[in-house]
Amino acid sequence: MPGDIQEKGFLMGRDKRYLTITFGCQANEFDTEVLAGILESLGYRPATDPVEADIIVINTCAVRRKPEEKVAALLGRLRTLKESKEDLVIAVGGCMVQQPAVAADLARRFRFVNLFFGTHALPRFPQLLRQAIGNGRPLIDIDENGDCREGLPVRRSSSFHAWVPVIYGCNNFCSYCIVPYVRGRERSRPFDEIIREVRSLAGEGYLEITLLGQNVNSYGHDLGEGRDFAALLGELDRIEGLSRIRFLTSHPKDLSPRLIEVMRSGNKICEHLHLPAQAGSNRILERMNRRYTREHYLELVENLKEAIPDIALTTDLMVGFPGETEEDFRQTLALLDEARFDQAFTFIYSLRSGTQAAELKKEEIPAGEKRERLRRLARRQNEISLEINRLLVGKTVELLVEGKSKNNPEMQSGRTRTNKLVHFAAAEDMTGKLVEVEITAAYTWYLTGKLVNKVPGTKLTK
Ligand code: SAH
Ligand code: SF4
Ligand code: F3S
Repeated sequence: MPGDIQEKGFLMGRDKRYLTITFGCQANEFDTEVLAGILESLGYRPATDPVEADIIVINTCAVRRKPEEKVAALLGRLRTLKESKEDLVIAVGGCMVQQPAVAADLARRFRFVNLFFGTHALPRFPQLLRQAIGNGRPLIDIDENGDCREGLPVRRSSSFHAWVPVIYGCNNFCSYCIVPYVRGRERSRPFDEIIREVRSLAGEGYLEITLLGQNVNSYGHDLGEGRDFAALLGELDRIEGLSRIRFLTSHPKDLSPRLIEVMRSGNKICEHLHLPAQAGSNRILERMNRRYTREHYLELVENLKEAIPDIALTTDLMVGFPGETEEDFRQTLALLDEARFDQAFTFIYSLRSGTQAAELKKEEIPAGEKRERLRRLARRQNEISLEINRLLVGKTVELLVEGKSKNNPEMQSGRTRTNKLVHFAAAEDMTGKLVEVEITAAYTWYLTGKLVNKVPGTKLTK
């Protein structure tokens, strides 16, 4: 396939440099790694700064208004760069572009952009680029066809952690969410292809993989082979050389008892589950089209904690969904105390045109009220996160070291199997290694520890 790409693109990137900028979720980050892989197979090499780049590829997100505004602001700044550097190629892709009205609006406002490409256009990227350069006006490709991803090159940004998509798209149509419109229907990757890829990653020395999908729990349903996500996880758990398996995201309505059992019995499957609840009120959950109740959600939490006692649970919660009353909100607040999440990602509802909830505009909650609810929710969650983290002080945990700490270059940072960030001091660079640290102090967002054991190879400890 890379050979094929080169042929179509005529090594157009020889002696040229590329820069990628990503705004979205992990699926978006992975798409950027594919784009980087394609660019490198065309001969481009990475640039570190926009000024030295010959091509800038921006991968956008449409899930809330804020990331969309950031893209528009960035394009505004790039206008000046493009004016001073005529040959600079700018390509804008991803979820924001996959919305026809938005793509048309961007192309009108930012006529200096060479190419707008949607989420389905990755395999066509080399041809599109060639067509777009020298086209005189923006080329737009938001065609939903022909997006088979198998065999595309990937330039991974880490040498010890890899993203591995298992299912693309989403069929759930939660009423607030733009994702099903911009990512298309669910498409599972072939079972054997995933196993083959993970085996080869393990062979290359990758210690950790994160399986990706908007709803990994629907993996396999469209393949009709009777092999589901639990079966896939069970198989991956047996791959030698690999130490940690993570996955994102699970939808509560499809979390099966079999999956909990595989998580319990697996060795490499990490003791962490991200299980977005979105809201604690049944009335709001129904209006969100989430298709589970608060009671069902809490039952799952109980089952998970019973099966895997040291599991860390994280969630996504939204405040200010149209029509959310103070009482509805209080039920979300109360969910925090009942579920005791290790961490919650909290969002203010943002109207997305084209979604079902956009029709509830008359019931929108005033912005000030939404912000106040977010503040109350985050405050309570922060207290809980700190309480849970404090229980770890004095314990010894396994870390996969990610590199130097962002705020203190004297320290290194790693993640526990439960996905908690830990900073510790070490004389030598331990990046990409598994070590053991004893936790010395706990904070809301991270912990600190001292190195007690440089664990050789892939020893597994919880
Ligand atoms: N597929 C994942 C989530 C993808 S979007 C899932 O089902 O959980 C990530 C998070 O963004 C969602 O969990 C939700 O909390 C939030 N989100 C999605 N649409 C939103 C909107 N319109 N406004 C605010 N937050 C939103
Ligand atoms: Fe959006 Fe719901 Fe699909 Fe998640 S499951 S991507 S929230 S529609
Ligand atoms: Fe954003 Fe698209 Fe991911 S909308 S959250 S980048 S799937």
